[in-house]
Amino acid sequence: MSDFDLEQTDRLLQTTKQVRKRLDFDRSVPREVLLECIDVASRAPMGSNVERNKWLIVEDRDTIAAIGGYYLENARPYLNQSDAFRDDDRQSRVVDSAMYLAERMHEVPAMVIPMRYDRVEDAGVEHQAGWYGSVLPGVWSFQLALRSRGIGSCWTTLHLGFEAEVGALLGIPDSVTQVCLLPVGYYTGEGFFVTPRRPAAEITFVDRWGATAADL
Ligand SMILES: Cc1cc2nc3c(=O)[nH]c(=O)nc-3n(C[C@H](O)[C@H](O)[C@H](O)COP(=O)(O)O)c2cc1C
Repeated sequence: MSDFDLEQTDRLLQTTKQVRKRLDFDRSVPREVLLECIDVASRAPMGSNVERNKWLIVEDRDTIAAIGGYYLENARPYLNQSDAFRDDDRQSRVVDSAMYLAERMHEVPAMVIPMRYDRVEDAGVEHQAGWYGSVLPGVWSFQLALRSRGIGSCWTTLHLGFEAEVGALLGIPDSVTQVCLLPVGYYTGEGFFVTPRRPAAEITFVDRWGATAADL
């Protein structure tokens, strides 16, 4: 028997959104709160339970501005050629929102960069699965912990076009991989809607690839 409030936990899990336009750019996020959330996130599973993850909180305004510049430089051409993604209104809104964030990335209250030791770009699928699977669950836990404290964040990877430059700026060794970059800020406005997704029965096969639970 579980003692969790299912309504609350499901709401947290289903309404934790990537926040861009509703970040409060004028209110700083205390480092202690970020550390508290990293503490929560560090409980996420890791292959063989080996702790090889690191986090970096960026608070220095000049450094944030410099990283924001790299982010925009890589994001702008990518998002401008993204008419291909604008199949529907929802996708169009995501691209607009992503561009908005790109243009204001240099102003975010803080950035958090989760990292892991080693490079895996040349590794096989088994090693990559174990490696990324040991760091990415913690990123989502971090976003959930932030959200339950009224702080929004957005999972981004577009700075990685300049991973080496950002790494040099932050003194990150070449042997370490940055897995994403999260701008963080208190969110403005009311709550969030449940993210629309296809129903589980339509995306889940039973026993073998092909027949979904909805077909049975
Ligand atoms: C691996 C990954 C990379 C992402 N990279 C970016 C990014 O570079 N910039 C950005 O604005 N959003 C990025 N996103 C956010 C997605 O665009 C977002 O999940 C999508 O818009 C759905 O939003 P929602 O979860 O709030 O419904 C990324 C998300 C993931 C999981």
